[in-house]
Amino acid sequence: MSARRRTDHAGGRSAEPVRRVTVTAHAKLNLGLRVGPPRPDGFHDLVTVFQSVSLADTLVAERTAGGFSLRVLHEEAAFRGGQGRTAKAAVPAGPANLVLRAARLAKERLGLPGGARFTLVKRIPARAGMGGGSADAAAALAAMLALHGRRLPRARRVALAAELGSDVPFAITGGTALGLGRGERLEPLRLARPLRAIVAVPHWRVSTAGAFRRLDEVKYGLTGWQRLLRLAASLGRKQVTAFQAMRLGNDFEVVLGQRRHDFDVLRARMVRAGLLEPRLTGSGSGIFGIVPEGAPVREIAGRFPGREPIWLVRSVGKGLRIVRE
Ligand code: C5P
Repeated sequence: MSARRRTDHAGGRSAEPVRRVTVTAHAKLNLGLRVGPPRPDGFHDLVTVFQSVSLADTLVAERTAGGFSLRVLHEEAAFRGGQGRTAKAAVPAGPANLVLRAARLAKERLGLPGGARFTLVKRIPARAGMGGGSADAAAALAAMLALHGRRLPRARRVALAAELGSDVPFAITGGTALGLGRGERLEPLRLARPLRAIVAVPHWRVSTAGAFRRLDEVKYGLTGWQRLLRLAASLGRKQVTAFQAMRLGNDFEVVLGQRRHDFDVLRARMVRAGLLEPRLTGSGSGIFGIVPEGAPVREIAGRFPGREPIWLVRSVGKGLRIVRE
């Protein structure tokens, strides 16, 4: 290992190529998420407040002469329970994995030579609304740039990231941000106080594309969309508390269908354990509850009944942490 180790946050201060890079890629919560009208490109406009949290995957990348390979290792990071075989089944190790898709996209668009060998240590639960796949894609983009000593202007990085998924631009930047457009237009916010949360992930899962379709069918809130956009504009660049952001609500809670009962029961159990305002993150199925300030989080987690896995998280100010070797 080189004695020279430098750390930065996604922007890439160094322009020297390196042999090996380790990227820590953080999960996110959507403190609030409202969905607007469908657009001609098939996506939906939305207003969301993203928050990066401490739970993270680790991606190690090494330059090779040619070709891309990926090894996925699953590491249990849940306070209780875990995902077991479900986790392995939900994360493809082949070409569909977002790490490989991001690496190939970067190579193709930026004309990068050679290939890379990736090892992904997966801790963020899949299909939980915590942005695990997006975090991995963001990490792979950042790793490719670092390996080749390339820097990109912000707009170019965001455009590349948005090709991989609506949440990938936020995964690169991280912190607290208002997300507009299809989620890729970001305005930084300041979180007034750090937050701690417990995230429970029920055994059922939600299809994101399906949830958007169901929202179109039942769309009840379109008349309020312009008002929401004005509210969002007033949030821009401000200091917000988690609870202010959570006042937005989450539209996906309306289209849970037959899962609604399970959701209500889980939410009630979270409240009984001492958690505040349980909410869906993204389109689910993860549900987070805020830990009251000063309250003992492990004690709350310990008295939270149920069999679904739970994770303890706190807010962090960055999406990626990059160490070059
Ligand atoms: O961009 P991402 O891959 O996360 O989107 C997954 C699916 O969710 C899209 O194919 C689309 O059907 C839906 N989506 C949407 N509007 C958004 C984000 C996602 O309709 N703003």
